[in-house]
Amino acid sequence: MTSPLAIELQTLQSAAQAAISAATDLPELERLRVHYLGKKGELSLILKGMGKLGAEERPQIGAVANEVKEALQNQLESRKQELQEAEIAARLAAETLDVTMPGVSRPQGRSHPLTQTIDRVLDIFVGLGYTVATGPQVETDYYNFEALNIPADHPARDMQDTFFLADGRLLRTHTSPVQIRYMETHQPPIRIVAPGRVYRRDTVDATHSAVFHQVELLAVDRGLKFTDLKGTLEEFVRQMFGESLPVRFRASYFPFTEPSAEVDVQWRGKWLEVMGCGMVDPNVLQSVGYDPEIYAGFAAGFGVERFAMVLHQIDDIRRLYASDLRFLRQF
Ligand code: FA5
Ligand code: MG
Repeated sequence: MTSPLAIELQTLQSAAQAAISAATDLPELERLRVHYLGKKGELSLILKGMGKLGAEERPQIGAVANEVKEALQNQLESRKQELQEAEIAARLAAETLDVTMPGVSRPQGRSHPLTQTIDRVLDIFVGLGYTVATGPQVETDYYNFEALNIPADHPARDMQDTFFLADGRLLRTHTSPVQIRYMETHQPPIRIVAPGRVYRRDTVDATHSAVFHQVELLAVDRGLKFTDLKGTLEEFVRQMFGESLPVRFRASYFPFTEPSAEVDVQWRGKWLEVMGCGMVDPNVLQSVGYDPEIYAGFAAGFGVERFAMVLHQIDDIRRLYASDLRFLRQF
């Protein structure tokens, strides 16, 4: 078929088909319908030219025009259905709310059991009117030993095997040097707790680590007595571990306290030493310029790992350093 009208019809059909498949919503589809098939649409325009055709050609072109019209109508209808379905599907998807779906949960971090234990100790003493103090982990011989009444040749240095640095300084073996540093810069009355990490060349076993934590306690005031120390520690132990934990005070020796004691508590069916304590030795008060005739002090050093082990019935101190999440998640 070569008639110009037939060619126009074919051109119209392919243009319309392309536009219809590309239509993305129903209003656009309706505009296309009016544009091609409406009363004043493109198809009607072409058909107006039919009057000039010969009687022979006219029915042929008429038949082609009908085919084109029918094809476009079918295509419009099926595209309309597609778009309607897509619209419904989109609305359903957007409006769907599955109330049974589990929430998006993020893994929650938490503080290490040792940090929790330190926080708990500090909370109790802050509640009793104490202030938190700290000191350096790299110490001088003076603060770690000398000022604490432990001269160079004193046998008590063997109690704490020390890591020395090349420059003669050392890793503090206990938190007691914080006592000295604090007293040097403050006047009585003093009430402090000083948490921190300490280091010893101890052989590691279930209750000993070479790196561990202590919290130091120091009170200096007029007229403090051993009963004040004992009462404070008893109140602390009660708040920390509850009433029912068996506790025993045991006479002991530290060069910087007199008298001195150590405190044991029950852990896994035996006594475990958890702290050392005593009345601050007058020599120590003197070394920081306090008059021991006027002031008296008491002090204690708590083993944080041992506290955690007693609180949570942990069987081995090394678990606290293994970074095993199955263990750590329990706290
Ligand atoms: C001291 O370190 C003294 N400075 C405590 C003190 C302070 C006495 C103030 C008087 C006045 P001792 O070496 O006993 O004392 O240690 C204190 C506590 O630290 C021990 O009771 C124990 O609970 C803990 N501890 C000691 N060595 C280790 C270790 N290797 N691993 C874990 N915990 C330890
Ligand atoms: Mg001890």
